[in-house]
Amino acid sequence: MTQIFAHRGYSAAFPENTMSAFIEAQKAGADGIELDVQLTKDGEVVVIHDEKVDRTTSGSGFVKEFTYKEIRTLNANKKGGKNEPIPSIIEVFEWMKSNDLICNIELKNGVFLYEGMEEKCIQLIHQYGLSNRIIFSSFNHYSIVHCYQLDPVIETAPLYSEGLYMPWVYAKAICSKGIHPDYRTLLVDEMIINSINSGIAVRPYTVNKEADMKRLFQLNCSAFITDDPPVALKIKKQIEKRP
Ligand code: G3P
Ligand code: CA
Repeated sequence: MTQIFAHRGYSAAFPENTMSAFIEAQKAGADGIELDVQLTKDGEVVVIHDEKVDRTTSGSGFVKEFTYKEIRTLNANKKGGKNEPIPSIIEVFEWMKSNDLICNIELKNGVFLYEGMEEKCIQLIHQYGLSNRIIFSSFNHYSIVHCYQLDPVIETAPLYSEGLYMPWVYAKAICSKGIHPDYRTLLVDEMIINSINSGIAVRPYTVNKEADMKRLFQLNCSAFITDDPPVALKIKKQIEKRP
């Protein structure tokens, strides 16, 4: 059955990439979370989407120019209300001890390469025994191949936003077990069906429209990434009820 991954956590209702958004995604019944990581000046892996802190936090400047201690003083709940620090990946892994969610780590190293970020993530994944619950994705495909070379057990999946022809062939060429396409590139059902039949999981992003969710459930797509897990759960239940 199609899994539901919460995009930046339950970001439709909670501040993106915060512990609240992850905890609420789990409470809502998501199968997994998707989050974005960058590296601080002193080499800590932190969970934030942009290279700069400006859009989502009370601060300004590049993530890579803050130490971990400094970045923790910012509030990632910019809209107001409860203070929400930028999580470290360690905090997420600690929380994952209390559940069985899958964590899709998107390595945000397309602008800055953040040398050593893959190694740091993998060292922590090993420390927490999470190799089978992590999927690395990135628009930087060199980075996910590097992850595969460091540890072939941890799954990787390329992110892409163009209509690739036979993407499952490409996925296999870079030793990935899945693909994470922009939903809008999935023009024909065969792209999903053939990929899954070739052993390559398909987890499109970012699927928020009910009709799109319905299509993916009906095709038994591997998973999809959504801002709104409760809506996805509602559609899933409706489909399951049908004879
Ligand atoms: O992982 C899929 C999706 O999150 C990629 O786009 O910009 O939301 O990180 P973005
Ligand atoms: Ca992302």
